[in-house]
Amino acid sequence: MSNNLLTVAYIVASALFILSLGGLSDQETARKGNIYGIIGMVIAFVATALSLDLTAYGTLASVVIPGAIIGAIVASRVAMTSMPEMVAMLHSFVGVAAVLVGIANYLQQSRSLTGIESTIHQIEIFVGVFIGAVTFTGSIIAFGKLRGIISSKPLLLPARHFLNLSMIAASLWLGSQFLAAENLSGLQPLLIMSAIASVLGIHLVMAIGGADMPVVISMLNSYSGWAAAAAGFMLSNDLLIITGALVGSSGAILSYIMCKAMNRSFISVILGGFGAETNGTTAAQSAEQPGGEVTATTIEDTVELLQRAKSVVIVPGYGMAVARAQHAVSELAKLLRDRGVQVRFGIHPVAGRMPGHMNVLLAEANVPYDIVLEMDEINEDFSKTDVVLVIGANDTVNPSALENPNSPIAGMPVMEVWKAGTVVVMKRSMASGYAGVENPLFYKSNTHMLFGDAKKNLDAIVGKVALLSEESVDLRQPTKVAFST
Ligand code: TAP
Repeated sequence: MSNNLLTVAYIVASALFILSLGGLSDQETARKGNIYGIIGMVIAFVATALSLDLTAYGTLASVVIPGAIIGAIVASRVAMTSMPEMVAMLHSFVGVAAVLVGIANYLQQSRSLTGIESTIHQIEIFVGVFIGAVTFTGSIIAFGKLRGIISSKPLLLPARHFLNLSMIAASLWLGSQFLAAENLSGLQPLLIMSAIASVLGIHLVMAIGGADMPVVISMLNSYSGWAAAAAGFMLSNDLLIITGALVGSSGAILSYIMCKAMNRSFISVILGGFGAETNGTTAAQSAEQPGGEVTATTIEDTVELLQRAKSVVIVPGYGMAVARAQHAVSELAKLLRDRGVQVRFGIHPVAGRMPGHMNVLLAEANVPYDIVLEMDEINEDFSKTDVVLVIGANDTVNPSALENPNSPIAGMPVMEVWKAGTVVVMKRSMASGYAGVENPLFYKSNTHMLFGDAKKNLDAIVGKVALLSEESVDLRQPTKVAFST
């Protein structure tokens, strides 16, 4: 393939990636965005493989074919609930690739660069390996935390900021040694820096508490983009630079949005454990434990409540994904709407385990987009809502974020569901959520706990509501429900 054709192919692929990002920013266009991305990636891959520089097709096929097969099998088998772990794992691959490309590029030294060009190339290698190593180990720790292999509690080592600063200072010093080294003797400082950056990646993510993990995930997403861009510079591949920059900047914007949504300072979170440090406590140490009585309810009582309600808000969380209850939720929403009830969904920005987790599930279950509202759009309406169904959500509906300054999640905006007439919380036990924080919502007088698997309970509720609809019984009352406890 001629250079001109390669450039055209790269420009087309870059344009498709930009269209893809644009499409993915909205649920209705997300599918189209995905297709643009796939076409862009196919063009990028074919053009690179056919480019004039490349002749070792045997080697390329021996890594690409097994990689593609393994990737396709893993991706087709992964459960929706494990998607965030897979994304974290994929980020780690980008990180390790940047490290390996950097080291190989340094050892190969095939290009006859001199003077400032050579120095710039050395800086590209050093920075690329640094970002790659932080991304690699940080993503593995994020994977462990999401999978539950590593505790979601923040690891707060004494003088940890000093430790981080020391590691960065040592890396800078090694960088100066690397630049001054001649005839491949810079390999030693490069490898030592890789080890230090790997420890830094582990330490930075270990220090993040459960509720702040979303920011870390999007931040690692951004790092993986910058690592790819650095690899693009090392390999003089324009498309890799553009793609890396797109991923890096969109990940950075997402991190900023997440921080704003959670009322966190981005810098504080990436420097480790904002929540835990500011409040001087961890989830386990949180001073005020909620008390009072818990009101358990039944399927029958919940159905009666729904029959009488005029307005219902459904607040889904990670438990809905675990229970795979999205289709049952969608069915219930449809039945209630058919009965004339105003039904809306309220989505917290960090509900679930990945950005947009709930939106994806609800879209899959064909819930109309116009009744799916963001936290800011629905929070003021809870006081005018008869019944809120909290389905497998916990941290995102925890009033202690607003009421208890000692809570590890203090300051995080939450869905203020307790302001509604009645709240039905569907979960299996009194267990805490991802952040490990007790939830006073469960003890409030207008909260009713419907214990059990969300899917099983919803199926039972749907069955009963459907029966009522068939019988065309309109039991809606003009008055608000008073639930006896
Ligand atoms: P969580 O606080 O994680 O709570 C989920 C609840 O679902 C649990 O308390 C669990 O209680 C319940 N549950 C689990 N399986 C269930 C089932 N089969 N049926 C019914 N209930 C079930 O959920 P959330 O409110 O969505 O909050 C998300 C949390 O994850 C936040 O702390 C957030 O910071 C963090 N996080 C988010 C992300 C992103 S990007 N969204 C990434 C990493 C971490 P039982 O065990 O009692 O059933």
